Amino acid sequence: MLTVGLTYDLKTDYVFKEADPPDANAEFDHPSTIDVICKTIESQGYKTKRIGNIDNLLDKIDNLGVDIVFNISEGVSGRNRESQVPIILEMKNIPFVGSDGLTLGMTLDKIMTKKVMIAEKIPTPRFFEASSLEKFQMDGLKFPLIVKPRCEGSSKGLSEKSRVENEQQLKEQIDFIVRTYKQPALIEEFITGSEYTVALIGNGDEVEVFPPVQIKIDGRLNLKDKFYTFSRITSDRLEYICPAKINAGLRDEIMLLAKRTYQAVECRDFGRVDFRIDEKDKPYVLEINPLPSLSTEDVFTPIAKCVGTTYNHMIGKILASALKRYNLKK
Ligand SMILES: Nc1ncnc2c1ncn2[C@@H]1O[C@H](COP(=O)(O)OP(=O)(O)OP(=O)(O)O)[C@@H](O)[C@H]1O
Ligand SMILES: [Mg+2]
Repeated sequence: MLTVGLTYDLKTDYVFKEADPPDANAEFDHPSTIDVICKTIESQGYKTKRIGNIDNLLDKIDNLGVDIVFNISEGVSGRNRESQVPIILEMKNIPFVGSDGLTLGMTLDKIMTKKVMIAEKIPTPRFFEASSLEKFQMDGLKFPLIVKPRCEGSSKGLSEKSRVENEQQLKEQIDFIVRTYKQPALIEEFITGSEYTVALIGNGDEVEVFPPVQIKIDGRLNLKDKFYTFSRITSDRLEYICPAKINAGLRDEIMLLAKRTYQAVECRDFGRVDFRIDEKDKPYVLEINPLPSLSTEDVFTPIAKCVGTTYNHMIGKILASALKRYNLKK
């Protein structure tokens, strides 16, 4: 029987430092998510072993006693934080589920990823970068704009104030991001319309693209100016609708764009691509998440239901994709 190790960062392990924003631990997992993933993997005929975070991994690295690691560690510091566990595993020749350090590092950096998308002719909102209040040029972009941190996930740094309509608001938000998150701000044209996310599982020719999930906020599908924020994630004003209320042509278009984005950044085993669609039905890729949340509260549960399967089965498919890549037999 194969043993699957788990690497992860727990919300409860994070020690807040004085200068931390309130969403500093937003990307980390609840202990209950790890319990569910372990139980799910065990129910499919594997043994599991909890490794924990990078410090635990380093302590145990020469005696892990696992055949493969299911890595969902987000890492604690630096823009390469998501790459740290995968790089150590790679160095020690230990197979692991999910993308490698290069893909995780690059995609955490939304600007690097947008440059790849532009080179691949994948539509993404026009943007500019601001590393300080003195150093930025709007490059002809028009308001409204949205101001985000360059290298974060889980809607960190996003609030109602992130959508800006004039120069004064823009400068305030740039200043907030640069000071609070200690990194440049990414400023994009704000896409007014609806929002979707597309999950993918697999590798090479065997990438399975799942039906888009639509984001409903405050009971509305046509979101117009509304968007995901840190506080919305934790409220019940957000719902995931699957199948999405979208015409078949547009659905197929975003599923294809999701696959092209996944392949462009060489995502492995699983991932999720986020979209906004403007009022003229033009889709834009916002970002790709090679480490999307596997919490049962997140999108994998409604997707499984929509395609007539279970959350367990989806996790099993992710693990099976990785085992196949390494030629490991169950
Ligand atoms: N250009 C844009 N136009 C309109 N809304 C946007 C734009 N960029 C981001 N948003 C809104 O902000 C949310 C978070 O942005 P994005 O997906 O880029 O960041 P994230 O923090 O990495 O996301 P996640 O919560 O998926 O990890 C999006 O889901 C969307 O609602
Ligand atoms: Mg996103």
